[in-house]
Amino acid sequence: MTIFGATGDLSRRMLLPSLYGLHSENLLPQRMRILGTARSELDQAGFSHLVATSLNEFVPAAQRNDATVRSLLERIDYQPASADDDASMASLVAKVDALRNGDVLYHMSTAPKFYGPACQALAAHGAAGAGTRVMLEKPIGKDLASAIAINDAVAKAFDEERIFRTDHYLGKEGVQNLIALRFGNALFEPLWNARHIAQVQITVGETVGVEGRGDYYDESGAMRDMLQNHLLQLLCLVAMEPPARFEPTAVRNEKIKVLRSLRAINASNVSTESVPGQYSAGASNGVAVPGYAEELGHSSRTETFVALRAHVDNWRWSGVPFYLRTGKRLPSRSTEIYIQFRKVPYSIFGGPAAADMQPNGLLIRLQPEERIEMELMSKTPGLDRQGLRLSQVALDLDFHEEFANARKRIAYERLYLDAIEGNSTLFVRRDETEAAWQWVDAILDGWRDAGMVPKPYPAGTWGPSATVSLVDRLGHTWRE
Ligand code: BG6
Repeated sequence: MTIFGATGDLSRRMLLPSLYGLHSENLLPQRMRILGTARSELDQAGFSHLVATSLNEFVPAAQRNDATVRSLLERIDYQPASADDDASMASLVAKVDALRNGDVLYHMSTAPKFYGPACQALAAHGAAGAGTRVMLEKPIGKDLASAIAINDAVAKAFDEERIFRTDHYLGKEGVQNLIALRFGNALFEPLWNARHIAQVQITVGETVGVEGRGDYYDESGAMRDMLQNHLLQLLCLVAMEPPARFEPTAVRNEKIKVLRSLRAINASNVSTESVPGQYSAGASNGVAVPGYAEELGHSSRTETFVALRAHVDNWRWSGVPFYLRTGKRLPSRSTEIYIQFRKVPYSIFGGPAAADMQPNGLLIRLQPEERIEMELMSKTPGLDRQGLRLSQVALDLDFHEEFANARKRIAYERLYLDAIEGNSTLFVRRDETEAAWQWVDAILDGWRDAGMVPKPYPAGTWGPSATVSLVDRLGHTWRE
């Protein structure tokens, strides 16, 4: 495995700790070597030091031991290289050849503009042939045109079957559990359609601000950073038809149909269907925090929050709003999918119970904890002299309790093993990325053409007040 951008933030926080986790459980192929590469002119000792300090910082103490760190370090080498410096790429390829003892997986954990040049340099030096694969981090570009350019450039070196586009949400246990819930149970499918579902909400809330990533984030914003990829992938998994098999082509064929069924949001309807926001000064976890512009040091029109009302225009979902929202500096870190069923067609209960009646809901919570909750109506205990009362109760499946012995893994552990084995079911195909960009581009262009700029919201709140009217218009409320 060769990791480009091996000294970067993602590598230190997620990739190296994932490799540690897999190595500590003997899950990596015995002969697998790990080669780090980046522009930094580090020697072997310098990189080993970076790996060791990263593991110290980002692997929980209870899972870490010195002997395992040492044995992982024995697998690891470093070779500086830069995609635009051909001599350095030649040296990198020589190093890969010297270490190679089977297939090679390249992981591009760099800015996307380097994917094309790096892949083409590998091909030019004969290092992109049979038995090699490449993993690409999101975002693939910043709009449809740049995504096509990157995909074209990478395709000159690797064919699609050997390209693994990462969306780390697909590596999360909870996201795969959504697939298990839908297709491992007979219970839900008969209800999983517009006849029985009134609305779907997908929320990815973060309490953090831009965390020193201002340069990247200000060019990107919530739409490109989160919605184009993570939220649309979740939407696909909720809305797709049952694939015939849990394998790459079948699953991805169903996801692309959902993306292509999304009703366009553009200049004509963007002001009623979307709410961009940007946090101003406020409080996060009880601590005063500055606004986005203050953090950046200059004013900006980048959205740190977005809420949308999406529609999947097909037979299954006709008329069901899919509300999507994501943002930085929200009140809590929570990723959840909420499915609200329709009301009972007729209430047999008169008196106060009629007002107690709530529609059933299914909550699939992915973060911070994994939980599935079914909201049902139940009789409130009592003798009912004033009439029967109902209360909403939750059937709650808490995975931490149920699977208490399972270690909480980093999404990349799963994704790395799948890519090593060549299984791309949980990776994003070219057409999916491009269809997602096409849909998102129309919204971004719509904001520009309609002169919409992000509305302020105080840090620590659920976005601008217009977010409430977005759902209120159809008689819905956000689940909070
Ligand atoms: C990344 C985004 O893809 O996902 C970040 O670039 C975001 O801005 C992160 O913070 C959220 O991931 P997770 O796994 O913490 O929900």
